[in-house]
Amino acid sequence: NGPDLTTDVLVVGAGPAGLAMAALLARHGVDAITVTKYPGTAHSPRAHITNSRTVEVFRDLGIEDQVREVATVNELMGHNVWMTSFAGEELARLLTWGSGPERRSEYELASPSSMCNIPQHILEPELLRAATRLGADIRFSTELEHIAQDADGVTARVRQRDTGVNQTIRATYVVGADGGRSTVAQNLGFDFTGESGLGAAVNVWLEADLTAYTEHRPGTLYFASQPGNDYWVGSGTWICVKPWTEWVLLFMYDPSQGEPDLSEAAVIERARTTIGDPDVDVTIKSVSTWSINHVVADRFREGRAFLVGDAAHRHPPANGLGTNTSIQDSFNLAWKLAYVLQGAAGPELLDSYDAERQPVGKQVVDRAMQSVKDMLPISQAFGFGPGQSDEEGAAALDGLHAPGAEGEQRRRDLAAAVQLQNYQFNALGVEIDQRYTSGAVLDDGTPWPTPDRDPELHHHPTTHPGARLPHAWLERDREAVSTLDLTGNGGFAVLTGPGGQPWVDAAEKLAETLDVPLSAHVIGHGQHADVLGRWALLREIEDSGVLLVRPDHHVAWRAASLTDNPTGDLEAALRHVLDRQ
Ligand code: FDA
Repeated sequence: NGPDLTTDVLVVGAGPAGLAMAALLARHGVDAITVTKYPGTAHSPRAHITNSRTVEVFRDLGIEDQVREVATVNELMGHNVWMTSFAGEELARLLTWGSGPERRSEYELASPSSMCNIPQHILEPELLRAATRLGADIRFSTELEHIAQDADGVTARVRQRDTGVNQTIRATYVVGADGGRSTVAQNLGFDFTGESGLGAAVNVWLEADLTAYTEHRPGTLYFASQPGNDYWVGSGTWICVKPWTEWVLLFMYDPSQGEPDLSEAAVIERARTTIGDPDVDVTIKSVSTWSINHVVADRFREGRAFLVGDAAHRHPPANGLGTNTSIQDSFNLAWKLAYVLQGAAGPELLDSYDAERQPVGKQVVDRAMQSVKDMLPISQAFGFGPGQSDEEGAAALDGLHAPGAEGEQRRRDLAAAVQLQNYQFNALGVEIDQRYTSGAVLDDGTPWPTPDRDPELHHHPTTHPGARLPHAWLERDREAVSTLDLTGNGGFAVLTGPGGQPWVDAAEKLAETLDVPLSAHVIGHGQHADVLGRWALLREIEDSGVLLVRPDHHVAWRAASLTDNPTGDLEAALRHVLDRQ
């Protein structure tokens, strides 16, 4: 009995990771089927923060403008407020996500794309539209029940949830984008390190017009902190879904202390307590719970199976890295699958996915966990602790504002605790500076530049092989284009400067002889004018040097200046990176 369906890639899951994978594979023309157990895309807001690296992926897919149209722009994201309630006392504030004057220029210089706030139930339909337009085959209400692999491929049993009909799908590769309870990971023996169930979170999606309390301090996150409650993030985090009338109220609890009352009356009461204004109407749209994990897969590849997104790494929402890392995983893997399946690369290229993304997954789960822990000093600086009465809490706050040495120390502690939050809310290095070491990168023997600032907080542009190509604005036909715009779109790119024409000639020849999508661009004057001279500052090569850039915008190889044999050297680099020895 043969399988009911055969395909090259089976993608399991159509969340942010699976939809991005489906869209990218479709753009490459890969024969793929995406199955997802639910009847539609996310039905609640979930993750919000969409960082500039992810928006660069949307830009590459041609949907940056569509996403921006339905997102809340960076200018309305910035004010992180700590308060006893919206109507109550403001306790602290930090300008976040690169929106403050100290960080704005660094964020703007780093990327052509700006961070935005786009809740998952609004983002996923955009990704689905893109994937469908590109021809992706996405099957809803289709649940993976079991999957096994052998030397040549994977065999999956799926069930149509509407009809109860079972089907078998045979695929050359499977991508497990099936979230935190991944069946792919369980069935195919992936091992994980870390801890699960560290706490539980409740997301209350609601309508409440808080314009009066937010318009003058527009932001994405408002932290309510009240006496007697210092558990994880305090009394409740308000996440803006739609300025300033739709929100998620997120709070955390310790399941070992019992489950909270999640009745409508109880969550309305909780919302009212943290709003602090009895006249604001609250309408609940939905309530959902989820658990806090600190877990990463030891390997992201086992044979013909790959894990992307939450299937591979599960962590708290701090730093907003959930959907971002998920989409970026797919951006790393999709072109590799396409090139191998289409004969442009050898199979070992696929090993580079694990080598490149597993360390990123580990960094992300550790960073997010640390950021959650780093929130405790804030409630401690307020003087709030467990089991405290309202009076004790009020007295603690009075102490924070009191003149004299003790009050001064409290205020210094609070300022330090707020500054620590930059590692969560202004961590541009974590957001954008993924650096890869793998077989899909050909090192040039030079050391990585030593960071001159904290690498978690700050972006360090470099063209060292393995780094994301630095962004610089260029001018083409009176229009601004980013260096990143010259690369990507599924192909390799060669970037050189005046005197680098032999690299361009070599690239044109090799695109044909190796049958690899490879474009070539001279940056300097003329077609891609470095009008501001910024590229010359960033490129770390001479005018006649070259960068070979992968479809995911990462530098694969570079030469500092023109070599004796540009065609031979570029060919050797491509063959190395693509496992075509
Ligand atoms: P995701 O979980 O989004 O998608 C998994 C997909 O797999 C779904 O399409 C599902 O149908 C499918 N699937 C699962 N099992 C399957 C099977 N056996 N067969 C077929 N399909 C299957 N993060 C954050 O940063 N901030 C936040 O505030 C929140 N809030 C939040 C709330 C709630 C309620 C949840 C559940 C999650 C969050 N998150 C979050 C986490 C964030 O949503 C998460 O990091 C991303 O959605 C991960 O995207 P993935 O695509 O990897 O998985």
